[in-house]
Amino acid sequence: MDTTTLEDIAQRMLADGKGLLAIDESTPTCGKRFEDYGIENSEDNRRDYRALLLSAPGLGESVSGAILYDETLRMKTVDGTPFAQMMSDNGVIPGIKVDTGAKDLAGHPDEKVTEGLDGLRERLAEYHAMGARFAKWRAVITIGDGIPSAGCYAANAHALARYAALCQEAGIVPIVEPEVLLDGDHDIARCYEVTEETLTQLFAQLREQNVHLPGLILKASMVLPGKHAAQQADGREVAAATLRCLYASVPASVPGVAFLSGGQSNEDATAHLDAMNRIDAGAAPWKLTFSYARALQQPALDTWRGDKANTEAAQNALLHRARCNRAASQGQYDP
Ligand code: 13P
Repeated sequence: MDTTTLEDIAQRMLADGKGLLAIDESTPTCGKRFEDYGIENSEDNRRDYRALLLSAPGLGESVSGAILYDETLRMKTVDGTPFAQMMSDNGVIPGIKVDTGAKDLAGHPDEKVTEGLDGLRERLAEYHAMGARFAKWRAVITIGDGIPSAGCYAANAHALARYAALCQEAGIVPIVEPEVLLDGDHDIARCYEVTEETLTQLFAQLREQNVHLPGLILKASMVLPGKHAAQQADGREVAAATLRCLYASVPASVPGVAFLSGGQSNEDATAHLDAMNRIDAGAAPWKLTFSYARALQQPALDTWRGDKANTEAAQNALLHRARCNRAASQGQYDP
């Protein structure tokens, strides 16, 4: 394992004022996003939309890397430039989602385990040759009556750790993403408890699989009350609970935490990140930044609507949110 290279990539991903853009929706998920605007889920539309995002002028000033889906990494622009090349030219490091999705966990109703370890070593070698320098694997933890179960925590932590070890062997920085879902009516204390247990078990497994923590990035969910909770929380409370949870469970040798947006509004996702960076004011051992999909892309998709004539306006919509999050990653967001 070349730890210097891994650490160097992680540091570039976490450069001051930069975060990640997640555009790794699988083809069916991309179809769902397009459907809301009556956009046909064709290969050409997926290429045009993603090329629009990745070539937005100056994107690299706020976005250090973008997470792609397999199909996208293999694509070329209409003038024949490979996507990985177009990204590097725009100052954005290519990344790749390598899990094959969250599947029902046998013996555990309503719980999931993420699959994709079979053949992963070979896939990672191919992705590295195509220019990918980091990867992502998302585990899903659901809060409900009597869940998460011990079996669900353990199976997902184990898979994440085995994935991370394989990435590092291939010279690829793993983003480990255990997402505690926002669904449900639980309160913020319950989300805190589940998130802390998820992260504690994850880091125990990462250690057991000899994963080099300075060459990894944690993609965490924020500590929030459930979407249907009677009592919602204000931004400061979310930021304080999330920070407390990270301090309780994330080793200081991890270089950065890049949050997912998880269904929060665009503005909330930015404001919560900003509040954490204001409270913490650089004291935390990890960088605190963004790795948003919906909260970065939604205004761009809403502007584009499948019409070439809207390309520049859609790029500006993306750049606006990217700059807001750049400011939030430094505690300087001014809504
Ligand atoms: P959201 O920011 O939309 O939660 O997405 C993050 C992600 O990792 C997508 O897989």
